[in-house]
Amino acid sequence: MPNIVIAGAQWGDEGKGKVVDLLSEKVQVVARYNGGHNAGHTVIINGERFVLHLIPSGILHPGILCVMGGGMVIDPWALEKEIAELRARGVDLGENLVVSDRAHVILPHHRALEAMAEEMRGERKIGTTLRGIGPAYEDKAGRRGLRMGDLLRPEHVAGKLAEARRNYELICRGAGRAPEVDWDALVVDLAGFGERLRPRIADVSLVLHREISRGYSILFEGAQATLLDLDHGTYPFVTSSSAAAGGVATGLGVPPTRVDGALGIAKAYTTRVGAGPLPSEIGGSLEEEIRERGAEFGASTGRPRRCGWFDAVVVKYAVRVNGFDSLCLTKLDVLDLLPEIKVCVAYRHGSETLSEFPADLSVLEACEPVYETLPGWGTPTVGVRSFTELPSAAQGYVERLSAMVGCEIGMVSTGPDRRDTLIRATSVLASWFE
Ligand code: IMP
Repeated sequence: MPNIVIAGAQWGDEGKGKVVDLLSEKVQVVARYNGGHNAGHTVIINGERFVLHLIPSGILHPGILCVMGGGMVIDPWALEKEIAELRARGVDLGENLVVSDRAHVILPHHRALEAMAEEMRGERKIGTTLRGIGPAYEDKAGRRGLRMGDLLRPEHVAGKLAEARRNYELICRGAGRAPEVDWDALVVDLAGFGERLRPRIADVSLVLHREISRGYSILFEGAQATLLDLDHGTYPFVTSSSAAAGGVATGLGVPPTRVDGALGIAKAYTTRVGAGPLPSEIGGSLEEEIRERGAEFGASTGRPRRCGWFDAVVVKYAVRVNGFDSLCLTKLDVLDLLPEIKVCVAYRHGSETLSEFPADLSVLEACEPVYETLPGWGTPTVGVRSFTELPSAAQGYVERLSAMVGCEIGMVSTGPDRRDTLIRATSVLASWFE
């Protein structure tokens, strides 16, 4: 199989975990390029539910090399917990998990800073996951961060933390807060992580180039999604990493010329956790019904997800930014019983009709969705494994979305299990699988 990147086409939680898990059978390496334990990838195998936050979902396949890239931010407490939980459930990680020496470390002061920042935002809270993600990337960009490779030289850690500590204490002073970090105890803890994680910490660019030269295939796994991407998302209501496909190059040290294709994951409707605009938000009891049917509660934080109709403006934008060759449409079955289904085809902004996604949040917030209404199919599609077996209105829905966003929909997911997936024989995807 060629080297493919998988990225979310909306605001996250599109079901990437399941698709990565499915495609892992076809590759030798799965490499994640961004984010941290703010992500929650749910995979259901033979009825057993796994939720992964940091480790690529490929780990559930024996023999697959899983790589955590330098574009990630890693909380070593969370990483060790996830490793222990997987082990307890019989998943043997062996030497199959490699962590970039360049990935930045999430530290206790990052969580403290994030709580303060969210509090100070008042009405304009981002609704972050409070895992320290944003402040860890801030320390990285501020050139005072600690990297996973630094844990291998514990004698230097205290010195490397000095600037981050100064910056944190300065902020605390300004906010009239007492700093809450015990830095001496932290240095001891970090030395322990360095010792235990030593065999896994490596130059992942080198590892991946070696795998490519052996002819092995890589699946590049993005966390979060295009509309949460720091550059391309609904800034400032975004995460702090490069979630769109472009993150592969910077987040893994694999050049764009080594990426052969891109697969976007989009839900058959839209969801969003946290604050920020969601133009096609449904509201009322229908939104609640869809939330319940789709079990739309955050895998990481348990927060209820806001639900909207499929927004073709958003997904068309994501197709452009990521260069998707194909899309996987997930959770089609959640819409099964609706008599009719709306799709947002454009935005009305004052007297203008916008067909392209705006960068300016104040414009987006003032937009009214323009809907096209499509007929529902009123029959269960759960577990359908061939496109022609879908009810004709469901086929029509998929075809119409595809035409609106300008990209084929090569895969449809019709249930949570790995097997509840159909791949269209005529799609680019099918040719990747050959
Ligand atoms: P942060 O990533 O914790 O800084 O949160 C920033 C925004 O991204 C918030 O709106 C979060 O709800 C959202 N977010 C972060 N990770 C995920 C995810 O995995 N799925 C969906 N939303 C996410």
